[in-house]
Amino acid sequence: MKQKLNIGLFGFGVVGQGLYEVLKTSPAFDTEISKICVKNKKERSLPEEFFCYQPDDILNDPNINTVVELIDNAEEAYKIVKKALQNGKHVVSANKKMLAENLPEMIQLQKENKVSLLYEASACGSIPVIRNLEEYYDNDLLLSVTGILNGSSNYILSKIFDHNQSYDAALKDAQDLGFAESDPTFDVEGFDSLFKLIILTLHSFGSIIDPNDVLTYGISNISDFDIQYAREKRYKIKLVGQVERLEGNKITLFVLPRFVRKDKYIYSVEDEFNGVVIKGKAYDKQFMFGKGAGAHPTGSAVLSDITALAHNYAYEYKKMKYADNFEYSKEHKVELYLRYKDETVLEKFSFESITEEYKGPEYNYKIGYIRLADLLRIKDELRDLDIFMSITGASLNY
Ligand SMILES: NC(=O)c1ccc[n+]([C@@H]2O[C@H](COP(=O)([O-])OP(=O)(O)OC[C@H]3O[C@@H](n4cnc5c(N)ncnc54)[C@H](OP(=O)(O)O)[C@@H]3O)[C@@H](O)[C@H]2O)c1
Repeated sequence: MKQKLNIGLFGFGVVGQGLYEVLKTSPAFDTEISKICVKNKKERSLPEEFFCYQPDDILNDPNINTVVELIDNAEEAYKIVKKALQNGKHVVSANKKMLAENLPEMIQLQKENKVSLLYEASACGSIPVIRNLEEYYDNDLLLSVTGILNGSSNYILSKIFDHNQSYDAALKDAQDLGFAESDPTFDVEGFDSLFKLIILTLHSFGSIIDPNDVLTYGISNISDFDIQYAREKRYKIKLVGQVERLEGNKITLFVLPRFVRKDKYIYSVEDEFNGVVIKGKAYDKQFMFGKGAGAHPTGSAVLSDITALAHNYAYEYKKMKYADNFEYSKEHKVELYLRYKDETVLEKFSFESITEEYKGPEYNYKIGYIRLADLLRIKDELRDLDIFMSITGASLNY
């Protein structure tokens, strides 16, 4: 039976306002936002009486049965979501970092308090990938989930490859248009993609992986040399997150730039869009594409979760209950392009075999197979080296 929701909203920024506007246009909706908690007193598009500034004004209000958490601070979001669940309220959140770092506790809190926490908007904005993975894709058949999960870095790469812009000019454009923050680290270094991938891995394979344990390398070190190399081979470079099933009940996952050929679905995911390819044994490949961010697209994913709550929906996390849990393997070998200047840097990279090599006046590169474990060992140094790494896509399921 449908339940009436009385909502306390946290955050009235891009997504909070987007939700408010989308909600106004939703015809068959029996829901009310009764309070909005924000951080600062300032002029807003709604009268002052809608707003409060103390989380407890919502969290301790017995008339509010649903909390929608749309703030931009993961630590504060954790406290809000935890207390809301403990106080018996259902929660919708879009905070991928908070979720990815606290999944076991978030699942436990739902169980203990018999409430539901939904978070479709936390991965790929408007694309309904989490609920589809949870409900439709049985993990016996699922082979891999591969995605362009971050709109800002994809926007930058599109400007580089389609409009011949430099990395710096493309980043500035992305910042001017509001696609990238003034500190773009979270997006361009791959962390945003990583947190989304952790959430997708749970709903794909039932495994909760510690984000600190996953190889994550972004696009900030890309040079004209790398771009030229990719162009000559008719590739584009995309920042891709992937979780892949391996032989023997294992999975592996990583966030890395990748050379992408024209025959791949993700080749044509441009600008701030996201795209996810789901590969299975029986159905081969399926592709979900759409807006990964923005006020209304993300607001509509939040609204979809609110509607699901009204119909008593909760994630069952059923893949966690399957008899054979997947083991996370770091032994998988990927074919890696490594552009470098200084020969001594090579001592850090334990290539198992070399496919291609080049030495030039300015830069050199090697392409070869390397174990993820050997890259993970040096993951904290990678960003500070004068190198760029991209996987070629060989040896991967997709
Ligand atoms: N933007 C997108 O397209 C997008 C897409 C997918 C997911 N998300 C996720 O959605 C969430 C919100 O993002 P956003 O882009 O809407 O952020 P935003 O525009 O920066 O807005 C953040 C809002 O949170 C409020 N806030 C911050 N700390 C607070 C606290 N401690 N208590 C109460 N309110 C607090 C701010 O209050 P003030 O107004 O007083 O400053 C502001 O209204 C984030 O988790 C983000 O990762 C965003």
